Amino acid sequence: MSDRLRLDETGPVLVVGGYGTVGAELSTMAAQRWPLLLTGRSPERGATLADRLRAEVRRWDLADPTGFSASVRAVVSAVNDPDDRVLRAALAGGVPYVDITRWTARLQRAATVATLAHPSAPVLLSSGWMGGVVNLVAAALAAALGGADQAEVAIRWDLADQAGADSVEFMDRLGLDYEVVENGRRRLVMPLSDTRRVRIGDTLTRVARIDTPEQFTLPLTLGVTTATTRIGFSSTATTSALLAAKRTGLFRWGRGDRFTALRRTLLYSPGDGGTAQVRIDVTRGDQTAAVTISDPHGQSHLTAVGALAGLHRVLGLDGAPAPQGVVFPEMTPRAAQVPEFLQSMGVVLLRHPGHEARAA
Ligand SMILES: NC(=O)c1ccc[n+]([C@@H]2O[C@H](COP(=O)([O-])OP(=O)(O)OC[C@H]3O[C@@H](n4cnc5c(N)ncnc54)[C@H](OP(=O)(O)O)[C@@H]3O)[C@@H](O)[C@H]2O)c1
Repeated sequence: MSDRLRLDETGPVLVVGGYGTVGAELSTMAAQRWPLLLTGRSPERGATLADRLRAEVRRWDLADPTGFSASVRAVVSAVNDPDDRVLRAALAGGVPYVDITRWTARLQRAATVATLAHPSAPVLLSSGWMGGVVNLVAAALAAALGGADQAEVAIRWDLADQAGADSVEFMDRLGLDYEVVENGRRRLVMPLSDTRRVRIGDTLTRVARIDTPEQFTLPLTLGVTTATTRIGFSSTATTSALLAAKRTGLFRWGRGDRFTALRRTLLYSPGDGGTAQVRIDVTRGDQTAAVTISDPHGQSHLTAVGALAGLHRVLGLDGAPAPQGVVFPEMTPRAAQVPEFLQSMGVVLLRHPGHEARAA
């Protein structure tokens, strides 16, 4: 049986993976506005949350061919959808769709699948860092400068922060080179290369390259000729250990399934809760606008804020008409309102004087 989503403009918002780490944050926010349908493989794990939010919870295992059907007003994909089942069902049913889970190659595939299907409802591919919050802030900074030539993103990952099991796949791609645009030219870069020290919030953090979707979309949407994202960890020792592992070639020779457990031990050790921080510098000519986004409720909360902004966007509730076809978060006509929206969600924006990155 195939999956079937039908559009019901008064129906619930479907959150696939809706009681996971990010999903539960999003569901808690979204329940204030819409009825909800949450899905996962083991719905009993979501029963307490569903009770609290007066939501329905059902089983939809994306790895099990058993089909799923529901009538919904929109769908957010908050768990990896390796076979595009959620996307295809949304496209077939004309249901507004938001995704926050895809690494760059998967986002490119989703854009292709969606474009070929001639979507009748918006398809928002919001998998840039923090569910597209980085894309939104880049758009706001570019709007303030009247355009953008460069966008540089520096992430400080708090090792005390929570992260769900489904998120490790995104990080576990450090053995694969990826394409970036620099000074208008495309080139392949190696993850964890090209280190810098960047002041993120109040802290100088050592950061290195990582593949994230905004490096693919920002050149296409904002017209930047350089887009760079780097990541570092709240513990210098962890950053150094990862860089050392990269120097030994572990992420290359250990790419196969045999080494999955070893790689993931290095990449996945979630804590009880921390602060999400990410700095964005947007440059136009000789002017740079820079902010650190800081969320004291952690990365899953900040990602859910990005997903919530996405829901508002696809439902035409952010003060602009719903978009048509495939869009990315930074294509918002309401870029100037982004800081106010984030602050209303408890996110702190700290302005920096300008360019401070140093080679490390
Ligand atoms: N764009 C970004 O910046 C960003 C940031 C954070 C996270 N993310 C992405 O968000 C996703 C969720 O992360 P998370 O930390 O919330 O993970 P998580 O805590 O493991 O949550 C995953 C949820 O999906 C369900 N699930 C797992 N496998 C499933 C399957 N095969 N079919 C259907 N449901 C399944 C789980 O419930 P059951 O176990 O009961 O199935 C759970 O509710 C990940 O893909 C992650 O990469 C993106």
